[in-house]
Amino acid sequence: MKNPRYQQTLRPVCITGTGSFVPDRIMTNQDLEKIVDTTDQWILDRTGIRERRIAGEQEFTSTMGAEAARRALADAGVSPEEVDLIIVATITPDMVFPNTACYVQEAIGATHAFCFDLEAACSGFLYGLEVAEQFVSSGRVDTVLLIGAEKISSITDWSDRSLCILFGDGAGAAVIQSREDATGILASSLKSDGGLASLLQLPAGGSRLPASMETVAQKLHYMKMDGREVFKHAVTCMTTAAKDALSQCGLTMEDIALVIPHQANMRIIKAIGDRLGGDREKYFVNLDRYGNTSAASVIVALDEAARSGRLHPGDKVLMIAFGGGFVWGATILEWSKA
Ligand code: ACO
Repeated sequence: MKNPRYQQTLRPVCITGTGSFVPDRIMTNQDLEKIVDTTDQWILDRTGIRERRIAGEQEFTSTMGAEAARRALADAGVSPEEVDLIIVATITPDMVFPNTACYVQEAIGATHAFCFDLEAACSGFLYGLEVAEQFVSSGRVDTVLLIGAEKISSITDWSDRSLCILFGDGAGAAVIQSREDATGILASSLKSDGGLASLLQLPAGGSRLPASMETVAQKLHYMKMDGREVFKHAVTCMTTAAKDALSQCGLTMEDIALVIPHQANMRIIKAIGDRLGGDREKYFVNLDRYGNTSAASVIVALDEAARSGRLHPGDKVLMIAFGGGFVWGATILEWSKA
């Protein structure tokens, strides 16, 4: 007899609620002028970033993620007890273990959920969405709470002017469920290239280079990046992934109502826009206010787009991301929330 566990028909998967949270503290480019040798004009011209949010000492990835989660659950009309699975996408977990999703579970009272973290750098939300889709479409669980949250300021070298200007803290969350009348996710193209790991990484503190007096003295617990190389790969990879996702579902940029690109650099978004085409107004941008929030970037932008009336039922949304690994991808979904 066939195992009944594998007889489930796949169900359409959609986002039924979103939420986001950013810390109150604003760090402007002018504030950075006082810390490193830079100018507001240089940062604005090279990145498009004006300011970013910085978490307080008592704000962690889990506390920001929990607040975003509460807002997403309220938006979806789902209680914490109804959540079956919590996934936190992050490169700045509260601790190496326990996983940050467990801290979020405790904070919001999602007593029935099982919890794990997912590490795919700035592509964390898209990778998490792919994982959530498998769980929900198969019927294995009904409700996934997917969170992208980062306290990037905790791994930032505040003396490195090429890096500290780029990033910010924040969190976003989405409730992923099945709705019979939803179209759901139309296409996704996820890719990785471990051969390029050295271009963007945090070298120490893991099993490869455990923490020691030397690693701390050499500032190896901070992010390291070859900005120019990352820039080039980010543009090529995100463009290719977006084209692949479009061709998978037979759509063109004309069919896309809104593009949610990873909020890393305005010049990267413009370069992708040049290659993909489509009306520039379709490209959602909030990096001027938040900088690059890594795994939180796409979901915070999606939440802001939804709350500001930029998304309507039936709209096709293209989300694109790229991060350290390298890991990148593009996902197209049909928005079903009124
Ligand atoms: N202020 C003033 N000058 C600066 C600053 C600064 N903050 N930072 C660097 N410079 C200088 C450099 O020292 C260099 O000077 P030099 O010519 O005398 O050597 C000059 O500016 C040009 O430096 P470049 O690195 O070539 O500048 P570039 O135009 O490439 O811009 C930047 C740098 C903004 C980092 C860009 O390369 C970039 O955005 N890269 C992608 C980074 C990114 O998005 N990473 C994240 C994606 S993945 C993830 O999110 C984890």
